[in-house]
Amino acid sequence: MDKNIRIEKCEDRQEPPKDEELSFGRTFTDHMFVMDYEEEQGWYDPRIVPYSPLEIDPAAAFCHYGQTTFEGLKAYRTEDDRILLFRPEKNAERFNNSNERMCICQMDPDFFVEAVKKTVQVDKNWVPAKPGTALYIRPFTIATEIYLGLKPSSRYKFIIIMSPVAAYYDQGIKPTKIYVETDFVRASKGGTGMAKTGGNYAGSLKAQAEAAEMGYDEVLWLDGNNREFVEEVGAMNVFFKINGKIITPSLEGTILPGITRDSVITILEDWGMEVEERKIKIEEVAEAYKSGDLEEAFGTGTAAIISPIGTLSWQDMEMEINNGETGEVASKLYDKLIGIQTGKIEDPYDWTVEV
Ligand SMILES: Cc1ncc(COP(=O)(O)O)c(C=O)c1O
Repeated sequence: MDKNIRIEKCEDRQEPPKDEELSFGRTFTDHMFVMDYEEEQGWYDPRIVPYSPLEIDPAAAFCHYGQTTFEGLKAYRTEDDRILLFRPEKNAERFNNSNERMCICQMDPDFFVEAVKKTVQVDKNWVPAKPGTALYIRPFTIATEIYLGLKPSSRYKFIIIMSPVAAYYDQGIKPTKIYVETDFVRASKGGTGMAKTGGNYAGSLKAQAEAAEMGYDEVLWLDGNNREFVEEVGAMNVFFKINGKIITPSLEGTILPGITRDSVITILEDWGMEVEERKIKIEEVAEAYKSGDLEEAFGTGTAAIISPIGTLSWQDMEMEINNGETGEVASKLYDKLIGIQTGKIEDPYDWTVEV
């Protein structure tokens, strides 16, 4: 494949929104990255072009059967005006794992990172500076073969779009109210839970909407077989601190292997804390709560980084964790991770990549 990225600059560049006016995912930068795939040719014509709507044939496979994958990462502006990505090679690796599961062709992981870097470079004036803000980067693939038969597509489009986003926490890190979902499930063994693919998210909307109606921020998913074991929260992995020990569900193919999750485990172990990656029953969490051993619970993900769980509601039990306040471990982890990501503190792991 010719890895030369052609650049077609946008003629009427927009003014990026002011840092105070940012939201999430509604405003997009001036350019986008596009690359096509055909079976006979492989990936071809990588290009950065003005952001614009796509012309899609209504019979394109993804419109019908959801053969899509995506990723999500952020670029941060440092105080000395550099732009940093956080572990983009992990997104490249996960993207290929998702693609493999969804029968989508693989992509050279180094080229994935190169494409992200180049696209950010072209629109670097869009990376906001206010603490907590970032440029959210959304790489994705859609199956574009024009055919209504159900089979893996022979054509794809890979695209990267970018959106400047507000700080997740406006007034400091804030605990959330989580509803433990005991009816709907997100994934089951052998399904697509470990892949970042549209259908997993479409299938979660109903539970999410019902939980929101009851006043909860997110749902905590349980396993697809017996609704017994803890899986993950909306778009976050989940951690519990029970009697001094940190426990997070092991990766068994049904949850997304979060990059923040992996980073959190490394940091906690470096701090000398005991971390267990294993199956954990919701009943064990409830028992720990009753005995006073459940000290903290929090979610981890690119959007919020760390999201403390203040209330966890399971069946008729409403658990108020750490008096509904942010715990010490969650708070320290947040400071450490955002510090590394924004270049404020030393990065002993070589996780950041300068654009
Ligand atoms: C279902 C799901 N779980 C977990 C995560 C957290 O992953 P990461 O830390 O890589 O953002 C995400 C976010 O991408 C997600 O969508």
